[in-house]
Amino acid sequence: MSILVTGARGKVGQAVIARLHSAGLAVRAASARPAKLTVPDGVEVAELALDRPEGLDAALRGVRQVFLYPEPTGVQELIRAAEAAGVEHVVLLSSSSVLGPDAENDPLAGHSLRVERALAGSGLTRTFLRPDTFASNSLSWARPIGMSMPVQLAYPDAHIAPIHPEDIADIAVEALTGTSLTGRSVTLTGPESLTFREQLTVLAGTLGREIPVERITRAEAERQMGRYMPAPVVSSLLNLWEAAGHGPAAVADTTRSLLGRPARTFRQWARENAAAFARQH
Ligand SMILES: NC(=O)c1ccc[n+]([C@@H]2O[C@H](COP(=O)([O-])OP(=O)(O)OC[C@H]3O[C@@H](n4cnc5c(N)ncnc54)[C@H](OP(=O)(O)O)[C@@H]3O)[C@@H](O)[C@H]2O)c1
Repeated sequence: MSILVTGARGKVGQAVIARLHSAGLAVRAASARPAKLTVPDGVEVAELALDRPEGLDAALRGVRQVFLYPEPTGVQELIRAAEAAGVEHVVLLSSSSVLGPDAENDPLAGHSLRVERALAGSGLTRTFLRPDTFASNSLSWARPIGMSMPVQLAYPDAHIAPIHPEDIADIAVEALTGTSLTGRSVTLTGPESLTFREQLTVLAGTLGREIPVERITRAEAERQMGRYMPAPVVSSLLNLWEAAGHGPAAVADTTRSLLGRPARTFRQWARENAAAFARQH
């Protein structure tokens, strides 16, 4: 019996696949773009875009558990196909944003919340992992840092507790292979609250060179982010960061309590990913 891992090209999906496979478990990697996917030898691949029903039956055949990326479009079809295939347990990569005010009407939080609600209304056993901001979001600074330009931010003093994607993967594997998390909803954060400015100081220390920070107006940030994100998502993120300027972010002790070891730090993530910020000549 296989475990189906969706979002197979994603940072968390990739890490979950590698861990399950090296533990000797049967894994099927589902990706919307399987041609662009690299998986360890022995891992089956299925083509599956979560917002389209084609491919669901083939992807779910012989599957008992699913590691699911949230996609509200098509979630009811996924649930029906999973129940028909005999799936018993779904571990959802949700988001801590579902706990925020007015989550239902927020484009980011609502995306995960709609999937949580659909699963909660199904006959499937479900476990909700609700991570805070991924440390890997800092890769969006790679271009200015690589070009020795200032990092431009509207809210440089927003506090977050960035979580290392590998910690999310470790907890997902615990949820899929153990029983301590089954049926629970857990908030996951990194081990410390850091402002964006403080994260850039950590990155600067790792890279051994200064990274200037330039404060820009909200309107300018909207213009820049609007080039690669829909306007409602831009507004939602900027609202979140504006509100996060008032004090340290809440730090959850979930990695220690679930895995018996401290969460990986942002400094560790920065060391492991320093090459992404290398100078471009
Ligand atoms: N980034 C954060 O700070 C953060 C915080 C909390 C929660 N989350 C949640 O974590 C998830 C992944 O985050 P991320 O995008 O930052 O990193 P990521 O792990 O790199 O995920 C990107 C991958 O997600 C998969 N994906 C996206 N939309 C999909 C869809 N409609 N159907 C199937 N697969 C889809 C794609 O994989 P394939 O191309 O292989 O299908 C894509 O490569 C998001 O759903 C987000 O809600 C993120």
